[in-house]
Amino acid sequence: MSELTPEEAFLTLYSDLNREGPGAAADLGWALSVAATPAAARICDAGCGSGADTVTLAKERPHARIEAVDKIAHFVAAARQRTAPFGDRVRVWQGDMAQLEGPYDLIWCAGALYFLGVTEGLQRWRLALAPGGAVAFSEPCLLPRPSAAARAFWAEYPQISDVAGIRARVMAAGYRVLGEQMQIGDAWEAYYIPMAKRIAKLRPEATGPLATALDEAEAEIARWRAAPSEIAYALMVVAPE
Ligand SMILES: C[S@@+](CC[C@H](N)C(=O)[O-])C[C@H]1O[C@@H](n2cnc3c(N)ncnc32)[C@H](O)[C@@H]1O
Repeated sequence: MSELTPEEAFLTLYSDLNREGPGAAADLGWALSVAATPAAARICDAGCGSGADTVTLAKERPHARIEAVDKIAHFVAAARQRTAPFGDRVRVWQGDMAQLEGPYDLIWCAGALYFLGVTEGLQRWRLALAPGGAVAFSEPCLLPRPSAAARAFWAEYPQISDVAGIRARVMAAGYRVLGEQMQIGDAWEAYYIPMAKRIAKLRPEATGPLATALDEAEAEIARWRAAPSEIAYALMVVAPE
């Protein structure tokens, strides 16, 4: 394999993965129910990646109109391909999720709101919500009395807080919490087990930036394996006050 740029190496690692962050299909049903998202809803999957959750949303709400947005063209193309069977009720576009217009009954954002900041992102999305609309998002969350291994896992995300801190950031945006649950274990396995297989497949031919990307991903998986019962996302369903 000829040497790739760091960006090409990243995309090579992430090609053919079902999802680009932790998450579980069952959690979407829970969030749709907590948010009381109507059958014919307008839904946005913000930071959709390759569209794993866009597909689940389309299946869970067969009468909904669904948009999905991601800033990376490669993921947009993958999500378009996966959602093609749903026809024109699912539209995937490349763009900035900070600029959503809506109106949406639900903005779903798995593992991506931290790119905008919880408070800042929710404030921006307020005008993109239809009356009665809600946002469901997952956010890194420190469990009580975190071990050194859990702190090491999150070392590159100093903004991390416990669930009370996430609630405070939600309230600072002028939203209230409708429901919350932790994503621990299964949601992370759904992300890291396929990634470990992908690393093993690419490893024999990997040099330069691709080898570096594989090393970094492998180290991240090892840090997760050191404390899998402590590494959590809080899945929050929130609505404007
Ligand atoms: C950790 S991945 C999660 C992807 C997907 N939601 C999932 O769970 O599989 C975060 C995604 O957010 C996208 N992203 C980050 N900032 C964005 C922005 N400002 N606008 C649109 N997409 C963004 C990234 O390109 C990436 O695909």
